[in-house]
This record gives sequence, structure tokens and C-alpha cells, in this order.
Amino acid sequence: MDEETKKRVLRLINYGLYIMTAASQGEIAAGAVNWLSQASFKPPLVMAAVKSGSRLHELIEKSRGFVVNILREDQKSVAEAFFAPSKVEGTTINGYRFEPAPRTGAPILIDLPAWFEVLVTDVVKRGDHTIFVGEVVEVGLREAEARSLVLRDTGWFYGG
Ligand SMILES: Cc1cc2nc3c(=O)[nH]c(=O)nc-3n(C[C@H](O)[C@H](O)[C@H](O)COP(=O)(O)O)c2cc1C
Repeated sequence: MDEETKKRVLRLINYGLYIMTAASQGEIAAGAVNWLSQASFKPPLVMAAVKSGSRLHELIEKSRGFVVNILREDQKSVAEAFFAPSKVEGTTINGYRFEPAPRTGAPILIDLPAWFEVLVTDVVKRGDHTIFVGEVVEVGLREAEARSLVLRDTGWFYGG
């Protein structure tokens, strides 16, 4: 397989971009992720690939849960703040206000239009990311008309 062509082909997969968060024993982590998809209707499952060794990975493993915060199409700058390591100051994380999710305590970013909370059901450890499969157990919709951010429109890549 040609390495350069593999990269170009895999980068043709379309993605969104989301802020994934987790909390365990008073610790909090968050990161911008694009490797995420729904994976079942009944029960409502999702799957996400999270970098091994990251703080987010550690806290998802410990708490067996996470929250996915959905970015609006004009919130590229919010995503940018979550490429850096998470920093909590009072009621903000990386400068954005949050409240704890009902089941896991993971941060819900209150300036974003929608979120869902997931309890992990299965963990696939292979390669440099771990795939967490989980069931959606809570959802929140603040802006019903919002359109979500698409990775292609940001000019960024994570894939290949
Ligand atoms: C465009 C873009 C997409 C990303 N997508 C993912 C992803 O799907 N999964 C993931 O674990 N990290 C992803 N990252 C990395 C995280 O945003 C973040 O850098 C990481 O969680 C921080 O962890 P670390 O500082 O412990 O390495 C992405 C980064 C960029 C720039």
C-alpha cells in the first residue's frame, strides 16, 4: 500500500468535531475529537477513538463514561481551545463555562448547542487509540436550530 495515497484516501472520510469530556474523583479532562460516530439505534450506542496515554483516555477508563459536547458551525475557536491540555479555573474549563453532567459529572459546556452523556459498555484497545463504545443515557438540546461544525470546514485534519 502506498503511504501517501493511504493518507489522502483516509482523509476523504467526513467528520464532525466535538468536545469530549470526562471526570473522575474530582479530576476533569477534555479534548476536541473527530473520530466519533453513532453505532446502534437500539440501544443508542456511539463509538469514539481516544488517544492512548491522554488524560481524557485515563479519566474515561476510570469513570467508564464521557460527555460529547456538540459545537455549532461558528464555534471553531472553541474547538481550538481544547487541543491544549485541560485547565480548570473555577467554573470554567479552558476558558469555557461548564456544569457537571447528571450521571458521570463530566463537564457539559454551557455555551454549546447540544450534548449527550455516555456510559461505556465496551473497550477495544488496539493501535494508538482506544475505541470506547457506550450507551447514550442523557441528552441536552439548547439550540434546536443549530447546525454542527464539520471538520472539513475548519481546514484541520486528524486522520490518514
Ligand atoms: C483536528 C483534531 C482532531 C482531533 N481528534 C481527536 C480524536 O478523535 N481523538 C483523540 O483522542 N484526540 C484527538 N485530537 C487530539 C485532542 O484534541 C487533544 O490534543 C488531546 O486529547 C490532548 O491530549 P494530550 O495532551 O494528553 O495528548 C484531535 C486534535 C485535532 C487537532
